[in-house]
Amino acid sequence: MVFDALRSAAAKLDSDIGNGPIVPQVTLEEIRGRLSRYDFATPVSLEEAGADVEQMMRAWHVQVTHPRYFGLFNPSVTFPAVAADTLVALYNPQLATWRTSPAANEIERHTLAWLAGKFGLPANAFANFTTGGAEANLSAVIVALTRAFPEYGEHGLRSLRAAPTIYLSEEAHHSFNKIAHMSGLGRCALRPVATDADLRMDLNHLARRVAEDRGNGLAPFLVVATAGTTGAGVIDPLPDLARFCRSENLWFHVDAAWGGGAILSPRLKDALAGIEAADSITCDAHKWFSLPMGAGMFFCRHPEAAGAAFHAETSYMPPKTAEQVFDQYTHTVQWSRRFIGLKLFLALAQHGESGYAAMIEHQARMGEVLREALQSAGWRIVNRTPLPLVCFTREGLDNKRFLASLYERQIAWMSEVRLAGANPVLRACITSFKTTESDIRWVVGEMEGLLSHAQ
Ligand SMILES: Cc1ncc(COP(=O)(O)O)c(C=O)c1O
Repeated sequence: MVFDALRSAAAKLDSDIGNGPIVPQVTLEEIRGRLSRYDFATPVSLEEAGADVEQMMRAWHVQVTHPRYFGLFNPSVTFPAVAADTLVALYNPQLATWRTSPAANEIERHTLAWLAGKFGLPANAFANFTTGGAEANLSAVIVALTRAFPEYGEHGLRSLRAAPTIYLSEEAHHSFNKIAHMSGLGRCALRPVATDADLRMDLNHLARRVAEDRGNGLAPFLVVATAGTTGAGVIDPLPDLARFCRSENLWFHVDAAWGGGAILSPRLKDALAGIEAADSITCDAHKWFSLPMGAGMFFCRHPEAAGAAFHAETSYMPPKTAEQVFDQYTHTVQWSRRFIGLKLFLALAQHGESGYAAMIEHQARMGEVLREALQSAGWRIVNRTPLPLVCFTREGLDNKRFLASLYERQIAWMSEVRLAGANPVLRACITSFKTTESDIRWVVGEMEGLLSHAQ
């Protein structure tokens, strides 16, 4: 019953957003002026405040669930996930310990174990939900660091004889810069590895950097491969990197924050071959699994390593839950823990694996339609990926002016990106299962009309 009302509200919103503007035209003063009436001294009814906020959200956001939003990977959301988030807010279960929320803990474990199997990880692999990819990447670095240098946990980096270093391509996600800072490794611990002509990590350069660093007394411990770079959707050569890491005794982490969804597609999953050898994987359910934020996932081949990195014991928490189960607060970054996993569980339950495969493959096909349509219209494509992300340019284009006109006319939302230090190009990613071929053809046609203003 609750779901029926929610479903019809969601369907109406979907249609309103699809027929409305994508890009907000608003000033800071307008927003602050509107908010100034909320002094919190005089109560405002929920109906009134809620209606006001909804109006603001409708008019003053980039509408990432619009079928012509081709931006960073913020997806359209599938309804069972919205229903799940509502249920979670209503019950507000605490997942820190197994004993407090046994059903919720087991629903998460069941869902993650299924997905870990899809990635080819062993049955005893550890996994947990995170707020997003950044937290999952943080988990990977802390777990790998603790495993390689057990004294790090008690005595810190200052107790180590050599400075630990991390290897990642120049196209890897910048969450690692913050993580290096926060973990105490320092940003210089990140050793950027050059990319080849297709923006994939260059294995020879990686091998040289690791050897040189070892020769200079540093302590390499982790290689981060990206499966779907943020900028260009490129997948690093996972099987080669896995072999290299095994032979050099380095932790192999795969950041598949958005590309990881491809594992559910029979047509695309081969692009992720090699991921089964990972020591750890980041995959965001709030990207290609079309769930609302925040739903990241961290998978780890070595369950005992997660326990070593995040162990905790205090008298004020309920006693440890014994034997085959574990308490999440003793194995993960978070303490109090929201029931993040319900949205993936309900979405998988409703759509099934085949429904998800269809949704993901539809988006991959739309990526191909976009690539071909742009090429036929005279744009030069600069990236190569099986994922639906197209980076493109043309002679003499002023990106900023072009994008400003695109936004002003509410044609589409796309962005600019700089790849491998070259001149910035345009970037368009299919992030919505609602995007159709006619949306794409219309956008590419309208873009032609804008060229005279931006060249
Ligand atoms: C490859 C990659 N890794 C990590 C992240 C960070 O994920 P989140 O924004 O969920 O923290 C992103 C975000 O776009 C990403 O593309």
